[in-house]
Amino acid sequence: MKIISGPASTALAEAVSAQSGIPIVPVVSKIFPDGESYVRLEGEVAGEKVAIIQTTCPPAQDGRLLQLAFLADCAKRAGATSVSAVVPYLAYARQDKIFLTGEGISIETLARMLKASGIDELLTVNIHSEPTLAQFAFRAKSLSAIGLIADYFVKKGHKHAYALAPDKGAMYIAQQAQAVLGGDAGHLSKTRDRHTGQTVQTAEGLKVAGQTVIILDDIISTGGTIVGAAKILKEQGAAHIFCGCVHGLLIGDAQKRILDAGVEEIIGTDSVPGATSKVSLAPLISQTLKDAVV
Ligand code: R5P
Repeated sequence: MKIISGPASTALAEAVSAQSGIPIVPVVSKIFPDGESYVRLEGEVAGEKVAIIQTTCPPAQDGRLLQLAFLADCAKRAGATSVSAVVPYLAYARQDKIFLTGEGISIETLARMLKASGIDELLTVNIHSEPTLAQFAFRAKSLSAIGLIADYFVKKGHKHAYALAPDKGAMYIAQQAQAVLGGDAGHLSKTRDRHTGQTVQTAEGLKVAGQTVIILDDIISTGGTIVGAAKILKEQGAAHIFCGCVHGLLIGDAQKRILDAGVEEIIGTDSVPGATSKVSLAPLISQTLKDAVV
């Protein structure tokens, strides 16, 4: 197997290569003056299985998706026997059903496009809704980084912290964290207006007074969900509030708004490289690729 280092995830690809011992194929990339993407493999892949590591987080998620598709085509044309796309943050995964009449299902369209480009298998991390993967026309799997995130907080001295999901759908995340943290777990309830995007959160029977609470979610986008949860936790008397997410998109001033709401630290993974990506997915991806090789 060889790892193809996608332009959006070069540091992660190098870390995965170092940890797994799987050699890396560098990529030359550029944007033409008219804004179109160019990629070229700088190494041999003939007769090899390849894993393209390329996140598709903002900014420029559409361009990053195209780079991924173009790299799959490059690999197949150069003789790769199979192409796995390792896409830590999979763009469009939240448009996984028709919410309003007239919409499409963007993630299913995207999966068809990726298959047509030559991708045989997809590996992502904490996709918003796992049943989505069953609709793809190729093998697709979502890994969970929650254990790594919970472990980060244990190492910071927060063993036995309360693991809180900001909505019922994220309760499985809180439970995975609870298995590492060893404290209690619970969830808030959240409803979203599909036209305005506004959310309303409520808490019932939450017992967090005096406790250290870690809010856990798959994605932080505008930060509204975490700000709302932090306000409720303050009202309920939580002593300390932290936040762990897999994909810290943190659009606009989300980070400041969350910290202003009383959250002491926000951490995410390198699915979205940046100041808050303090947990690397490299061990998780390395192990999965090594298991696939044997
Ligand atoms: C939705 O259910 C997701 O799990 C996240 O809670 C959501 O995407 C976060 O969005 P925002 O940060 O804009 O509230």
